[in-house]
Amino acid sequence: MEDWSDCLDVAVQITRRAGQMVQSAVKQEKRVSSKSTPTDLVTEADHQVEELIISTLREKYPSHRFIGEESSAAGVKCELTDDPTWIIDPIDGTCNFVHSFPMVAVSIGFAVRKELELGVIYHCFDGTLYTARKGHGAFCNGVRLQVSKEKDVSKALILTEIGAKRDPATLDIFLGNMKKLLSAPTHGVRIIGSSTLALCHIASGAAEAYYQYGLHCWDIAAAAVIIREAGGYVIDTTGGALDLMSRRVVAAGSREIADYVVKQLQPINYGRDDTDPDDLP
Ligand code: IPD
Ligand code: CA
Ligand code: CA
Ligand code: CA
Repeated sequence: MEDWSDCLDVAVQITRRAGQMVQSAVKQEKRVSSKSTPTDLVTEADHQVEELIISTLREKYPSHRFIGEESSAAGVKCELTDDPTWIIDPIDGTCNFVHSFPMVAVSIGFAVRKELELGVIYHCFDGTLYTARKGHGAFCNGVRLQVSKEKDVSKALILTEIGAKRDPATLDIFLGNMKKLLSAPTHGVRIIGSSTLALCHIASGAAEAYYQYGLHCWDIAAAAVIIREAGGYVIDTTGGALDLMSRRVVAAGSREIADYVVKQLQPINYGRDDTDPDDLP
C-alpha cells in the first residue's frame, strides 16, 4: 500500500518554492486583470506560479492528473477521477496579493481514488508551512496541530469568506447568515480574504468554525486534510459528507459547533461545475 510520503516531501519543496516566488512578486509591479466578474482578480503571478507547480510535479509524476485554478479557468476540465490527482491553488487570496494585504497562500492538495491524502499550504507573508498526510497528523512548521475542542458556540470565533456573487439577493443571504452567527452570540465573525489560511486557523485552534458558499475544490483540498489530521471536522453545509466539487463547506474543531453552524445557514446556490459558463455569477 502506497503511503505517499515521497509525494509529501516533493509537495513541501514545490510549495515553498512557489510561496517564495509569490513573496518576491508582492514587491513588484503587478499586471492585474479580471475573470468572471470585475472583483474576480487574476495576475501574471497566478499563472506563473501554477505553471511552475504543475510542470515540476508533472516531470516527477507523469502519470498523475492535475487540477489547478488557472488551468481550469483556461478551459482544462476540472474533473476528479480515481487517478492520483494534485489539486492546486497557486495564489489563494489574489485580491489580498494585489493589495499586499498579508494573507496570501499557496495550496497543494493530493487525492487518490477521490480520497484526500496530502495537504500543504504555505503562508507567503510569514513563511509558515502547514502540512498533513492522512493518518499521520498535521503540522505547522513541524509542530503538531490540534483544533479547538470548544463545544459552546457562545465562546466560538467563526470565520467565513464572501464568495464571488455580490448581487443584492446573495449579499442579503450572506449577511443574514453572518447576523445569525454574530447574534448566537459568538465571540465574533472574521473575514480574512484567504479561504485556505482561514481553514488553517481552524486546524491550529485559533478559531472554532469556518463556513463558505462559492469556494472551489482548490480552496479546500489541502486544508481539509490538515484540519482532519488536527482532529477537526470538514463537512457539507447540509451536515452530510464533504463533496469537494459542491462549492460549499463547514469546518470546525468540534462536531457540536459544526452542527450548530449547519443549522444556522441559509444556502447560497453556486452550482457545482467550475468550468460551466452558466455557473458563473
Ligand atoms: C478566493 C479567496 C477568497 C474566497 C474566494 C476564493 P482566490 O481564492 O480564498 O477568500 O472568498 O471564494 O475564490 O481566487 O484568491 O484563489
Ligand atoms: Ca482566483
Ligand atoms: Ca483560492
Ligand atoms: Ca487562486
